[in-house]
Amino acid sequence: MHTIKIADVSLNFDADCPNFKRHASFHRNEPPVVYGIMNLVPGIESPESRMFEIGTGFGCGVVQYARMFPQLEIHSLNILPEQLAVPLPAGEAMSKDDIGSYARQQGVAYTQHYGDSRRFDFGQLGEFDVVMVDGCHEYEYVQADSRAAREMVRPGGIVIWHDYTTKHDLGQQVMSAIDYLDEAEFDGSITHVQDTMLTFWQKEISS
Ligand SMILES: C[S@@+](CC[C@H](N)C(=O)[O-])C[C@H]1O[C@@H](n2cnc3c(N)ncnc32)[C@H](O)[C@@H]1O
Repeated sequence: MHTIKIADVSLNFDADCPNFKRHASFHRNEPPVVYGIMNLVPGIESPESRMFEIGTGFGCGVVQYARMFPQLEIHSLNILPEQLAVPLPAGEAMSKDDIGSYARQQGVAYTQHYGDSRRFDFGQLGEFDVVMVDGCHEYEYVQADSRAAREMVRPGGIVIWHDYTTKHDLGQQVMSAIDYLDEAEFDGSITHVQDTMLTFWQKEISS
C-alpha cells in the first residue's frame, strides 16, 4: 500500500459550494481529493468518459461527479430492499424512491441500475474510466466489488474506494478487505490518501 498526502493529489475544486457543505456524502476534505484522483485518468474530460458507482445512496456522489465533470456518462447501482441477501446497517437499506432521489431532484442525468452487486452483470456495460466502490461495506462484498471494479475499469482508468477508515466498524471491514487485496492481488499498488477515507488504484496501460 502506498500513501500520499492530500496536497499531492487534491485539485482546487470548489469545496465551499453550499451543496457540498449540506449534502456531502464524503468527508469534508474529500471532494477535492476525489476530483484530483479522477484527473489522473488520461482523457477524463473527453466526451466519451464514463463512470460507474457501486452504491448510489441518495445520489450525493452522483451530483458531485456530474458537477466535477459535466460531460461524464454516469452509471450507479443500488440494491433494492427486496434483493437484500444480508441485512444492511440502519439507514443503508433504501427504498426505490429514495435511491438517487437527491440526484434526480438536482436534475442530474445518469443511469440508475438496481441490483445486488454480487449478482449484477457488470460485463454487459463495457469499460469505464472510473469505478467508485461504495456499496455494501461487509468484508466479502468489498472484495467481490473490488474484483468486479478491477475488471470493469479500462487501462489508465481508476478504481476508488470510500470508507477506508478505522473510524467506524464497517470501515474496519473495508480496510481489512482492501489491505488483503492490496497484498494478495494488487501487488501493493493501491494508494491511500492520508487523512482521508479514500484509496485508489490505476490500471496499467500496457505498451
Ligand atoms: C454509503 S451508501 C452510498 C453513498 C453514495 N456513494 C454517495 O456518495 O452518496 C451505500 C449504498 O450501497 C447500497 N448497497 C448496500 N449493499 C449493496 C449491494 N449488495 N449491492 C448494491 N448496493 C448496495 C446501500 O443501499 C446504500 O445506498
